[in-house]
Amino acid sequence: MQSTNQTEQISLTRGVPAVEALPTKLLSECFQAVLEAPDGWSVLQYGHNGGYLPLRRLLAEQYNVTPDQIIVGNGSLHLQDLLSALTIKAGDIVFVEQPSYDRAIKTFRRRGAKVVGIPLEHDGVNIAILEQAIAKQVPTFMYVIPDFQNPAGVTTSAHKRQALVDLAEKHNFWLVEDIPYRTLRYKGESAPLLRDLNAERVLTISSYSKLISPALRVGYLVGPLALVKELTKLAEETILAPVLPTQAAVVEFHKRGYFASNLENLKGLYAPRLQSIVAALKKHMPTVPFAEPEGGFFVSIYLPTGTDTLLQRAQAAGLALTNGQDFFADTLDGGEDAMGQRFVRLPFCALTPVQIEEGIRRLATLL
Ligand SMILES: Cc1ncc(COP(=O)(O)O)c(C=O)c1O
Repeated sequence: MQSTNQTEQISLTRGVPAVEALPTKLLSECFQAVLEAPDGWSVLQYGHNGGYLPLRRLLAEQYNVTPDQIIVGNGSLHLQDLLSALTIKAGDIVFVEQPSYDRAIKTFRRRGAKVVGIPLEHDGVNIAILEQAIAKQVPTFMYVIPDFQNPAGVTTSAHKRQALVDLAEKHNFWLVEDIPYRTLRYKGESAPLLRDLNAERVLTISSYSKLISPALRVGYLVGPLALVKELTKLAEETILAPVLPTQAAVVEFHKRGYFASNLENLKGLYAPRLQSIVAALKKHMPTVPFAEPEGGFFVSIYLPTGTDTLLQRAQAAGLALTNGQDFFADTLDGGEDAMGQRFVRLPFCALTPVQIEEGIRRLATLL
């Protein structure tokens, strides 16, 4: 059995894939095949801004839409930014789950939105508070991560998914569902996509960052034709042309059957890591409740009391943590959410079970 040096620094900061999960050999074959094909030149030339057509065709089939309803971008954060640039005007408001993905909150703010967090419960946002927030001001869009949420690890129930699309329909706002972790399900059954409940109100964003490699920078958005057309025009004006070699490599990865086998490898690697973190939390912090996810990259906890010295004390104990407050947007009243001081995100995929056990043991000593 592997051991962990007591002085080894353990990082519970970034939600990155494990290095041993990155398929270097398989991708190397795919890049070679793409570039050595008779039309290999075509992926080294300027291309159409919706992205590589064979990839859009493949995704169109998967989502049961036309290729024109798909734009492929340089990772999904790029598409969140393009969408924000297109839709947010001065004075606009955007809702997110509270807590939410920190970079998304920053992106929406940078594009001029006031970002309000709707408290996230163990099965999705608090719908009564969402209704109160809508009554104050209807958002331009609401951004949700319905499956294995970053940072909380929560999955939205089928019942709350229906409530979200009903509210979006009634009050005329977009729902942006971001689903990069959805297929990393280690047990249990998936709830429907929001777009399966109402495709006209929902923009679906996802990426290959967690399923093949984040450095490929291949993410995509699926939405109604008119909006995707506008996004494509904006993409052309800002990045001129898509990164075709990596998009073509993704198609080759699918064609060769590597996507399915790689996904099984990822699940085989990550499922025991999820089990380890759940077991370690129950063992070392038996009184701290947490939502037990069935997939994804994250578990999260709220500490019994808030502390602004946690990060420094953790560092001294050989544990790197992210500032919980970064995952919190404004409250409905416009203030800072004090829950941020108690929130700790625990990404588990890039650590071995032994490192996970030791990391959680160290965290427990700080309470
Ligand atoms: C919920 C969520 N959305 C988007 C991203 C950004 O991913 P990409 O690499 O596709 O830009 C991440 C990355 O961690 C994420 O967790």
